[in-house]
Amino acid sequence: MSTGPSSPIGILDSGVGGLSILRALRRELPAESLIYVADQAHLPYGPRPLAEIRTFVQHITTFLLAHNAKLIVVACNAASAAGLHDLRAMFPDVPFVGMEPAVKPAAAATHSGVIGVLTTAATANGTLYASVRERFAANVQVETVICPELVEAVEANATSPAALQPLFERVLAPALARGIDQLVLACTHFPFAVEALQAFVGPQVAIIDPSPAVARQARRVLADRQLLATEASQPTLRYYTTGDARRFSTLASNLLGEPVQAQALRWAGEQLLAGD
Ligand code: DGL
Repeated sequence: MSTGPSSPIGILDSGVGGLSILRALRRELPAESLIYVADQAHLPYGPRPLAEIRTFVQHITTFLLAHNAKLIVVACNAASAAGLHDLRAMFPDVPFVGMEPAVKPAAAATHSGVIGVLTTAATANGTLYASVRERFAANVQVETVICPELVEAVEANATSPAALQPLFERVLAPALARGIDQLVLACTHFPFAVEALQAFVGPQVAIIDPSPAVARQARRVLADRQLLATEASQPTLRYYTTGDARRFSTLASNLLGEPVQAQALRWAGEQLLAGD
């Protein structure tokens, strides 16, 4: 099977977080077919060792390529931190778009000289984060806030301002007190909690959600390779999870505001198999 303009874009994340990227991709590229894989059997990725995340991501990529994906969007900061470099080396002919913490626009926009980066441990520990800080934030104070609890809250559909207030008091209040005026969402789950986040940090703090920029980057990569779907194509959307397909479908329908019917995938050793 060879890939072409009508082949799908493959998207992966540990859970529903990457749907924030899928949503942006659909706005930017409505003619594209998409295959989404959520590795909920291994959620959360954030607290895991980078080497372990890297292995998961390599096998999910193999699954997506077997389903003819023409581009892989690593819609997970943790997975990008752990695996993007090696994925590009392992699959040199495959285009990848990954996530990197949006420190650059935050550093460019800050007036207080202090920016916050809300993320998970895997992303904070990766060399990608060290590199963006070095390149773009040399003259800016960076407050890194590690918050795996917010991943769990999004997965549990518990993102009301009231539900998240105690967590934000504990983890975000210290960064606010140090004067952040930009808050970078460096985990793809977090845009689904943006209302509660904005309510907590107040209007004087700008929240930076990188998903529209990631979707524009996907457009550029496809255009360069002449792989953009034509306007006339009938896009298909397929969703898979290594967790509970029914639960995923309910939550994803809720987050995307349209019906989602996910299929179950299971890990058989290092391979992903559909069904059962
Ligand atoms: N959504 C993922 C990210 O962007 C990871 C969440 C997790 O599983 O820890 O980092």
